[in-house]
Amino acid sequence: MQLHDHSESLAPPLAEGPFRTSPCVEGHPPVGGTEGGSQLARQPSSEVTYRLAKEETREVRRFLAREWPVADRAIFGENCDWTSQPVVVEAHVGEELVGAALGEVIAGMARLHDLLVVAGCQGRGVGGHLVEAFCDRAATLGAARCYLRCPATEHHRHFYERLGFSQVARLPRYYHDHDFLEYLREPLVRG
Ligand SMILES: CC(C)(COP(=O)(O)OP(=O)(O)OC[C@H]1O[C@@H](n2cnc3c(N)ncnc32)[C@H](O)[C@@H]1OP(=O)(O)O)[C@@H](O)C(=O)NCCC(=O)NCCS
Repeated sequence: MQLHDHSESLAPPLAEGPFRTSPCVEGHPPVGGTEGGSQLARQPSSEVTYRLAKEETREVRRFLAREWPVADRAIFGENCDWTSQPVVVEAHVGEELVGAALGEVIAGMARLHDLLVVAGCQGRGVGGHLVEAFCDRAATLGAARCYLRCPATEHHRHFYERLGFSQVARLPRYYHDHDFLEYLREPLVRG
């Protein structure tokens, strides 16, 4: 199961053309763009038009790279680093890949995006070892805590709570009308 949160656009009902994206999307573009701030004088809102786009264009990427540092400075202060460091742990039986944990360390925290063990190997401790190895590596890369989202089932609850995660939120009807849980482990490495 993929655990990514695909950023959801907060699009008002629009004509064709690009969305106004949420200012709170996850996953910043790399910072370090040129000075932000629109060159335009303040426009009355009646002069702003809205278009839906088929994909993220180079112009949008440049816009985000230029303007996020400005917005970030106001929220987080100077020099905040949004470098994403991938964390990938594989489990093999011989040469065969039987499980994987994937995520990233970013801005002092880790997020576990994907955790999957092949059906025939489940229930033998592989998933638990993958999570521990993921947390160890994330701590080495500077993360202080780890977040993840999982379906709200008794299996998942049991699995993550045994690994030292605590539920911090319930996300009603998150994907395909199924509730999800947000879990946090902090401190990251258990003594
Ligand atoms: C969740 C998952 C990664 C756990 O991996 P695993 O190798 O089975 O986990 P472990 O053997 O280390 O731990 C098993 C424990 O997890 C729990 N568990 C969670 N999901 C389970 C599942 N689908 N089947 C069986 N047990 C499951 C069991 O209650 C078991 O507890 P117990 O040992 O006290 O009986 C694995 O079941 C899986 O890949 N499931 C499908 C994909 C998924 O749901 N990924 C996680 C999304 S957040």
